[in-house]
Amino acid sequence: MNSIPTDPVFSHATVLQAETIDALRDVPPGVVADCTLGGGGHTEAVLRALPQVQVLGFDRDPDALAAAKARLAAYGDRLQTAHAPFSDIARVCAERGIEALSGVIADLGVSSHQLDTADRGFSFRHDGPLDMRMDPTRGQPLDVRLAGTSKRELADVLYHYGDVRASRRVADVVLDAWQDGVRSTTELAERIAAVLPRGGRVHPATRAFQALRMWVNDELGQLETLLADAPPLLAPGGVIAVISFHSGEDRAVKQVFRELGRGKGKDFELVTRKPQLPGAPELAVNPRSRSAKLRVLRRPLPEAS
Ligand SMILES: C[S@@+](CC[C@H](N)C(=O)[O-])C[C@H]1O[C@@H](n2cnc3c(N)ncnc32)[C@H](O)[C@@H]1O
Repeated sequence: MNSIPTDPVFSHATVLQAETIDALRDVPPGVVADCTLGGGGHTEAVLRALPQVQVLGFDRDPDALAAAKARLAAYGDRLQTAHAPFSDIARVCAERGIEALSGVIADLGVSSHQLDTADRGFSFRHDGPLDMRMDPTRGQPLDVRLAGTSKRELADVLYHYGDVRASRRVADVVLDAWQDGVRSTTELAERIAAVLPRGGRVHPATRAFQALRMWVNDELGQLETLLADAPPLLAPGGVIAVISFHSGEDRAVKQVFRELGRGKGKDFELVTRKPQLPGAPELAVNPRSRSAKLRVLRRPLPEAS
């Protein structure tokens, strides 16, 4: 399974698909929660490869839900969806009468479709508004967040979420640009690039944009809630598989999985001591996969007496 399926309308190449399916292959019959439905790539692979399960697909983005539902219509009621952040996993499962999950998948971050849709304001490669919300129906877009933020708070955001070295200088530039009336992604990126060293293949504003996106969507807060609420929902034999692209996210997953995996009652076992990474064939066709890391935790079956 080294081919990378891409939906022609909702373009997003699914990352570490074969590895994710291998991790879930022996889960018990029941419901798998795909916390990040996106274009439906992981969900389609699950529905195809694991006939014993249905999928409950979460996404904050109504466009992603619509695209995934259209793509997966042939699977009928084997797919349910929820327009909700995955931090609501416990509430949504309770409301739908789902007491335990056979599996949980989270493929963190944004989809290529979101990045490539100019009016969502995620990217400086296309001119768009300063928005960056994964769910454009809720919360505050970037320009509103910037209005109520101090330079110090913004510098912390840039440093912690984007590893931006000149974080204070970049925070100054971002807030000055906002004061000057800059409201577009390309203009903001130009202002940031103007105070950072050039060179290399990566645009100088890339890390700052990643940090701003993670801040607007509270991505680390979302992940922390998921890591607290999802493992207790796993049925015996159930598996949670998380793919992260950011060192802070991977650290959070690693710590929680290690901690749970060494619990006294053997409630959980760590399946991946080291993260699984994309192989050369995947890297060759999907360069975006280069920073992906997959970690897996399992709730063991009770020992036979
Ligand atoms: C990397 S894409 C997932 C791609 C998908 N696995 C596929 O193969 O097509 C991430 C998706 O998760 C959604 N997302 C990210 N964080 C979320 C959260 N906290 N709650 C719900 N959806 C989220 C994004 O809106 C985006 O559509």
